[in-house]
Amino acid sequence: MSHLSQLQEIRDRARQQITEGAVTADYALDRQQAIGILNEALATELVCVHRYRFHYFMATGIHSQSVKSEFKEHAEEEQEHADWIAERIKQLGGKPQMNPAAITALAHSEFKEGNSLADMIREDLIAERIAIETYREIIRYFGDKDPTTRILLEEILAKEEEHADDMADLLFAVDPSAGLTGQTEAASKSGPKQGSKPS
Ligand SMILES: [Fe+2]
Ligand SMILES: [Fe+2]
Repeated sequence: MSHLSQLQEIRDRARQQITEGAVTADYALDRQQAIGILNEALATELVCVHRYRFHYFMATGIHSQSVKSEFKEHAEEEQEHADWIAERIKQLGGKPQMNPAAITALAHSEFKEGNSLADMIREDLIAERIAIETYREIIRYFGDKDPTTRILLEEILAKEEEHADDMADLLFAVDPSAGLTGQTEAASKSGPKQGSKPS
């Protein structure tokens, strides 16, 4: 009996709050905060799309052909991540922030051009490592309270780890000293040993 009355209540609520889309009354997180966090992740992905595409067009030198195709592939995958996140923001009743003027301030990573091929790869590796750390934290925030978003972000995180691994390998191919000394300028700025794999 009690189960049935609960079911009726759920049906009534679903009907009343039909404009809320996928968000039901039992959504366990602060929805505005969740949307805000996802908009920061979206901005980070969009900055990554632009940075990889810029690197794709600017890459020159003896190693540039293979590196260019890697930059292009990463740009496309970052765009895919941005699309998934934007879709989820919309499902949660929010508005994906795509205003270029707002994106830089929201993004976790920066748009760094890089002056040489090795520099570009290094900047991409740094950005990937920032993304990995922030995604881990965001995944903990969503946890069991919003498993749909968490699973989506876990898939993105796995791809960012692959990206970081690709960049670490390329950096070593282009600049073998980067993997040997661990003392490049960027490494000393960012802390972790250059060329090391994300844990
Ligand atoms: Fe991404
Ligand atoms: Fe990435």
